[in-house]
Amino acid sequence: MNDQAQTLRNMVLVQGEAAGQRPTRIVTVTSGKGGVGKSNFSLNFALALQQMGQRVLVFDADIGMANIDVLMGRNSSYSLYHLLKREKTIWEIVQEGPQGLEYIAGGSGFRDLLDLDQEQLDYFSEQIGKLHGHYDVILFDTGAGLSKETVRFITAAQETIVVTTPEPTSITDAYALIKMVHAMGEQAAFKLVVNRAVDRKEGKHTADKIGLVARQFLQTDIPMLGIVPDDSLVPKAVKKQVPFTIAAPDGSASRAIAQIARDFIHGAGASVAEPVEMGGVKGFLLRMFSRKI
Ligand SMILES: Nc1ncnc2c1ncn2[C@@H]1O[C@H](COP(=O)(O)OP(=O)(O)OP(=O)(O)O)[C@@H](O)[C@H]1O
Ligand SMILES: [Mg+2]
Repeated sequence: MNDQAQTLRNMVLVQGEAAGQRPTRIVTVTSGKGGVGKSNFSLNFALALQQMGQRVLVFDADIGMANIDVLMGRNSSYSLYHLLKREKTIWEIVQEGPQGLEYIAGGSGFRDLLDLDQEQLDYFSEQIGKLHGHYDVILFDTGAGLSKETVRFITAAQETIVVTTPEPTSITDAYALIKMVHAMGEQAAFKLVVNRAVDRKEGKHTADKIGLVARQFLQTDIPMLGIVPDDSLVPKAVKKQVPFTIAAPDGSASRAIAQIARDFIHGAGASVAEPVEMGGVKGFLLRMFSRKI
């Protein structure tokens, strides 16, 4: 472990888990192919979890095209950029969206994240460390494909949700992403969400395809978290800049997201068995910065 990582380890261990704090689940949402519905999923999944009484933070970690705030019709004054520049504290960049959903807007900041100097890293880690115990779930919505930054998020998070559609190109790219992370020798707990399925059968079929090759060639299980149907109410809501679970709570996509949220909280694998110090925000920071990719 390098000096930087050691400093970080000491720092996060000192911060410790204050009495009564619930552990935070850190989840990265990603995909192989772009435009498969990651941002819509992240936002509406977060709202559904919040409906269940979970405290949720959505982190827009897409470098190229930050758009969580666009999907909510918001215009954020502050983003991660201001944190990295040490102009704002973490609580100043947490914005409030519809239904009081807390989020951190994306921007051009993330590219700098991997090249922070020691002082910036200390500030960033100290500030992010403050999120520990404050949320039940922190969701990172990443860009598509395997950028250095996305790999860092995937391997630092406890869980990674890979979104795919039933299209062959989307399936192939989802598998390629899983395979590459695997080939790098990185540990990652992948779960699959099939978006835009015509029906459950197609969704199941899509998940089975990926599951089968992963088992055969990577000796890894990729459990399916859920299926979201193709629903014309989704693009309608996107145009209105209202999250579809708010615009059309009884639509088929909204009902599917609610079911996925229930499974995520109550289903198998809902509690991540990890040594305490590796869990939550602290473990995330350690994994994020203790090695250079
Ligand atoms: N379940 C769905 N049913 C119908 N259309 C959908 C569904 N999910 C997403 N879409 C459509 O796909 C478009 C892209 O979605 P979104 O922006 O969430 O994808 P993304 O994976 O985040 O894209 P990027 O890779 O650019 O970040 C949306 O504007 C919407 O019209
Ligand atoms: Mg997106």
